Amino acid sequence: MRSLSDPFRALILGATGTIGGALVQALRDMPQCAQVVGLGRQTSPSIDLTSETSLRNAAQSLATMAPFQLILDATGALSIDGQGPEKRLDQCMPDLMAKSFELNAIGRALVLKHFTPLLPKHERSLFGVLSARVGSIEDNRLGGWYSYRSSKAAGNMILQTAAIELHRTKPQAVFAALQPGTVASKLSAAFNKGHPLTEPSIAAKGLLMAIDRLHAKGSAWFVDFQGEEIPW
Ligand SMILES: NC(=O)c1ccc[n+]([C@@H]2O[C@H](COP(=O)([O-])OP(=O)(O)OC[C@H]3O[C@@H](n4cnc5c(N)ncnc54)[C@H](OP(=O)(O)O)[C@@H]3O)[C@@H](O)[C@H]2O)c1
Repeated sequence: MRSLSDPFRALILGATGTIGGALVQALRDMPQCAQVVGLGRQTSPSIDLTSETSLRNAAQSLATMAPFQLILDATGALSIDGQGPEKRLDQCMPDLMAKSFELNAIGRALVLKHFTPLLPKHERSLFGVLSARVGSIEDNRLGGWYSYRSSKAAGNMILQTAAIELHRTKPQAVFAALQPGTVASKLSAAFNKGHPLTEPSIAAKGLLMAIDRLHAKGSAWFVDFQGEEIPW
């Protein structure tokens, strides 16, 4: 990571997922990375996006290891309670939509709330969240996937708002919503047919390279794993 200190420390949320796990592996392979901490529902400490207490406790227990120059949130959900994304309005169910927002939007706000204090104050740092191109309002040409699209768009707005606020206290922090390509994973398995697939390791390395190239601009970026900007 050319833009970070040598050595640097990294923290990955959602480390038990396909992309999160690939990010952990890519960082372990970097001599410059002194330490990678991976958090998930089955790790110790553990995090559950539906429990603010778990997020607060995990962040507090990592405070002695801070600062982390790189924090990436690779959590997220597409299917909810076994139900895949809605194709039409008449498939929208309020309780499932609320759960999608709880994970992809409110969970993101809570991660920002509890984990951005672990970023350094007077040093360059990178905070990336796994978003999705389908969360782009401008790029929406196919419709469908109401809950996922809209909860990802809300997550993007939360990131953008936090980036503006935190620029005042951490002016060297970069905030980015990241699109990994279509990666075969538990999340995408039932829906990725017909799409060219990106290997998790390629997506992870691309995402790290893409965020490494960004500068702190007082607002968030939305980029893909090849470094291309995506319209909000
Ligand atoms: N795969 C793709 O093609 C693709 C495309 C665009 C965007 N994305 C985004 O990339 C991110 C990672 O997706 P992935 O493909 O790697 O899927 P994945 O393998 O299913 O990983 C999802 C991650 O989210 C975690 N998670 C889900 N619910 C949680 C909760 N309540 N509390 C804490 N963690 C929770 C999972 O934890 P557990 O391991 O405990 O279940 C897992 O670590 C997601 O934000 C997704 O929207 C993926």
